[in-house]
Amino acid sequence: MLNNINNLLHIEEVALNQVAQEFATPVFVYSENALRQAFSAYKNAFNQIDTLVCYAVKANGNLNILRLFASLGSGFDIVSGGELARVLQAGGSADKVIFSGVGKTAAEIEFALKSGIKCFNVESMPELTRINEIAGSLNKIAPISFRINPNIDAKTHPYISTGLKNNKFGIPFEQAINAYSTAQNLPNVEIIGVDCHIGSQLTEVQPLIDACERVVALVDDLGNLGIRLSHIDLGGGVGIRYQNETLIDLSVYANAVAKIIGNRPLSLILEPGRSLVGNAGVLLTQVEYVKHGEEKNFVVVDAAMNDLARPALYDAFHDIVPVCVKDIAPITADVVGQICESGDFLGKNRSLAVAQGDLLCVKSAGAYGMSMSSNYNARARAAEVLVSGSQSKLIRRRETFADLWQAELI
Ligand code: LLP
Repeated sequence: MLNNINNLLHIEEVALNQVAQEFATPVFVYSENALRQAFSAYKNAFNQIDTLVCYAVKANGNLNILRLFASLGSGFDIVSGGELARVLQAGGSADKVIFSGVGKTAAEIEFALKSGIKCFNVESMPELTRINEIAGSLNKIAPISFRINPNIDAKTHPYISTGLKNNKFGIPFEQAINAYSTAQNLPNVEIIGVDCHIGSQLTEVQPLIDACERVVALVDDLGNLGIRLSHIDLGGGVGIRYQNETLIDLSVYANAVAKIIGNRPLSLILEPGRSLVGNAGVLLTQVEYVKHGEEKNFVVVDAAMNDLARPALYDAFHDIVPVCVKDIAPITADVVGQICESGDFLGKNRSLAVAQGDLLCVKSAGAYGMSMSSNYNARARAAEVLVSGSQSKLIRRRETFADLWQAELI
């Protein structure tokens, strides 16, 4: 979705220096076409299975993006009442919403029940008890699935690996049957599925296939006990290319899942986040200073770890390229923000042909960029712009100073 036209980077037909001129920096810029294409890639690959793609809102919850996915038929994977509110505000339908997360509060459960969501992905027995009680008090039946921890190594960064025994997510595989048997005896829950999510930014398909196998084996075991499920949910996790990662071929994944499901009457839910939005967005930033240190050079930019936390948090790599290709000698430098922390960097040891005032494009910033941003150092959050063809539309205005203290009471 990034094109170099006459040495100037464009998203679709819009030159990024125009975006910076019109909306200032730092600014997240997304390509509508790339968002549509990423969604279609799932629809096309999984068309042989009855599949509901539930976009993981946490990756990027901008209302315009949610609205776009809803218009394409997407459901939503939420992890908080706030995300449910976002989905509803964007016009998404509650009956395509699934609710994941280990710490659902009573208020969130009540909100979700009253909204009529499709399914709660239950992560513990106390949560099951709470859902049953609240559903009872509302005179409702809560549709549930258990998030099972299949104990599979997703082979990704430990902070975003979630399918192993030693983390807080889901119910241990060995306890699954017991969990379902308990749920079967509760009056206000209806068992409809099983769920797992083994991690994020996966670059190998095999762990996903292994997880699917374990989950379907569990479906069979439950069936033998008279507990029939109508869907399996394999979570999200499909990685994207930040640098030179190998990519999961969605059709290989889909074919393997179709084969495992076979002729069982099961529908499929997927919860992709990053792979729908990650490479559909960039963070545009301007060089404030080029600072030549004794041992290192620094390109100080107007975006920082409060805008894009991934490098600071996970040592994640994001490619950084000048918006305008210049015929000047490159320097090797760390690209850093203004925040008073040594961890505030966007890239390390990058070779860049840039000078003060130039624009840089931080790539693959569509997922877990804006959604993880903060106001640290009293920095107003960046703007967001959606490009479609030759049009660019402001989809979130830049925050003002007044926004910084709007919730505070004196
Ligand atoms: N479903 C569940 C239950 C999840 O916990 C997640 C992500 C997803 C779906 C979506 O996974 P995806 O398709 O995006 O891999 N902040 C980190 C990523 C954290 C992912 C948390 N869970 C990052 O910036 O890399």
